[in-house]
Amino acid sequence: MATTSSFLARGKFSIAIVGATGRLGKTITSTLSTTYKYQFSRIIALTRDESSDVARDLSRLQGVEVRVVSFTDSYNEGYISRVLQNVDVVVNVLGAGASVSEKDAVLEASIKARARIYFPSEFGVDHRNNDKIFPSFDHLEWIKKRKHLKLADELVKQHGSDTKIVSIYCGLFLEMVFAVTGLDISTYTFSYLAPSPAPPFPRVSITSTQDVAHAIASLIPIFMAPQDLSTSLPTHIRLAGTLHTVPEIADIYKKVTGEEIKLDRKDVSEVKEKLREEMKVEGTEWRGAPGGHIQIIMGEGMLDFTDNDNELVNPGGARWVWKGVEEYIRELQQQK
Ligand SMILES: NC(=O)c1ccc[n+]([C@@H]2O[C@H](COP(=O)([O-])OP(=O)(O)OC[C@H]3O[C@@H](n4cnc5c(N)ncnc54)[C@H](OP(=O)(O)O)[C@@H]3O)[C@@H](O)[C@H]2O)c1
Repeated sequence: MATTSSFLARGKFSIAIVGATGRLGKTITSTLSTTYKYQFSRIIALTRDESSDVARDLSRLQGVEVRVVSFTDSYNEGYISRVLQNVDVVVNVLGAGASVSEKDAVLEASIKARARIYFPSEFGVDHRNNDKIFPSFDHLEWIKKRKHLKLADELVKQHGSDTKIVSIYCGLFLEMVFAVTGLDISTYTFSYLAPSPAPPFPRVSITSTQDVAHAIASLIPIFMAPQDLSTSLPTHIRLAGTLHTVPEIADIYKKVTGEEIKLDRKDVSEVKEKLREEMKVEGTEWRGAPGGHIQIIMGEGMLDFTDNDNELVNPGGARWVWKGVEEYIRELQQQK
């Protein structure tokens, strides 16, 4: 069993990243194995296919053990419960392609293994109040995420476990900011939603995957502190690498590229009503891409994490510099 005392004695601990080859998982794995290597005795990157290009890249990182995992076959040598034994921290970064049962299997195995910290696969919208935003027409992905968190609470109680369930909400990934905020690069048009009458425009929290990795590395020792110190910590962590309105992002884009962006603003309540009507036909659990729902959440100001936990993970910005939109666009320009 992984215990606080074993961590304190060793000063290092073991971590498993489930979904390590994914968009977020590979950044977390590479960041932990380089910048934060000193914190870990083992870094285990889990994949279903160790022969994939990304899995091979990860296996070349110093100190990273790539392990093949099965979520469903309990007789398999790589069955998730066996792989997670003696692991102190589990980061679940399975994406939308993974099923509920696969994600739940990771959770259950983490709690049974008495991992000290379990990060559920959140890393986006703080959907805890989505019932108010989308009464009876929420997106299936967030319904599944809430069920996973509820199951986590139940399993912790059932097993008398002291596993900390730490959810991270980071708003939009910086690397996906244009796709999600609605920039059509072929017409240089930003289609976005805002309340009527505008302005003021709502601000949106945007965090790079690299900064999510920094935040995870920062939170681990905080939550590994002796029980009495760590119990008062928030377990729902909101991050805002940077905060901007869509017109501000368009201005930054113009500043860096010289390209004028046309703004096509629509009334969020009209678009929301349309979505509600569509979902009456589609059913109450929306299975398509979440982009439409995210745009509404942005338009209603619910992705504005001005109230955030940046200071907990990166006090005074002393641990690292949050990556901003301008830096990201400059990088894109250099890659052209
Ligand atoms: N804030 C944002 O803008 C934003 C954007 C995207 C995602 N997210 C969130 O970030 C988290 C991680 O998402 P991601 O996009 O990084 O994940 P992803 O790349 O879609 O998937 C991560 C890994 O899951 C593994 N996997 C295991 N079972 C799978 C299955 N049945 N089907 C498909 N893949 C499977 C795959 O690894 P192997 O094939 O190696 O096993 C894959 O590389 C999610 O919670 C997601 O909602 C947030």
